[in-house]
Amino acid sequence: MPTIKITYSDPSYQPNAEALAGKLGLPLVDITDSGLKTSQNALAGYYLEYAIDGLCLKSAVRNEHGPIRCDFTSGASSHRRKYGGGNGQAIAKAVGISGKFAPQVLDLTAGMGGDGFVLATLGCQILLLERNSIVHSLLDDGLRRASLAGQADTELAAITSRISLLNTDAGSYLQALPAEPCADIIYLDPMFPERKKSAKVKKEMQAFHGIVGADEDASELLQLALARARYRVVVKRSSSAGYLADTTPSYSLEGKSTRFDVFALQKLPG
Ligand SMILES: C[S@@+](CC[C@H](N)C(=O)[O-])C[C@H]1O[C@@H](n2cnc3c(N)ncnc32)[C@H](O)[C@@H]1O
Repeated sequence: MPTIKITYSDPSYQPNAEALAGKLGLPLVDITDSGLKTSQNALAGYYLEYAIDGLCLKSAVRNEHGPIRCDFTSGASSHRRKYGGGNGQAIAKAVGISGKFAPQVLDLTAGMGGDGFVLATLGCQILLLERNSIVHSLLDDGLRRASLAGQADTELAAITSRISLLNTDAGSYLQALPAEPCADIIYLDPMFPERKKSAKVKKEMQAFHGIVGADEDASELLQLALARARYRVVVKRSSSAGYLADTTPSYSLEGKSTRFDVFALQKLPG
């Protein structure tokens, strides 16, 4: 993983940036007007910046891509919450959500929390695991801001109350548990292979790839998950990808550019 520096757009965010730099053991850089006068404060590669709209990942290369942040209160996430198709969405069907049953989900590969947030919106209790400390920090900050926004939005408050997040490796987490059901559904969306996206999103995806790398242990995660899910394991893949670990699922559901491979272990209640 490249060295990431931590910075802040305004001195009022300095304490947050200092705390994060200390927690992650990463260098703190002052890019406010006074700080930039010192050449050691120059930025290169990627950096995490605290600013008015929260924590974001930026590239020091101008116009490479926009800031990468978790935003659950506006934009695409908020639009999907209101108009996304509810239980008719492929992800909802894959996980087995119905009017009578909203499962408890363990998401082994949280990433930026997009899928987890959709599932929580549909009523699932969800535990997100993310091992990469940079990605975890971005997600943690996004959830914190969503929770704050929930003070003026009861629906959003209910959604965020259903989400928990741990900064841990999912393989170690599962191995520490006995091989018996620990969640209704175990969900995984490993990093590789790359999905087809627009040029702009592709650049953001590349940045994300550079930070996270390929998820080489995804096959092992599937085996661990199959021994610990109560009803199903759901694997998200790009439409053109082969089955994870060459293991044929019970069936697959096609999303827009993705596919959900469902490993059914037991009939769902309801
Ligand atoms: C493709 S992203 C997931 C995207 C996510 N579904 C979303 O909607 O934003 C994969 C993420 O899983 C994380 N990951 C991969 N293997 C993991 C593991 N064994 N334990 C915890 N996190 C893992 C990676 O660090 C990466 O952030």
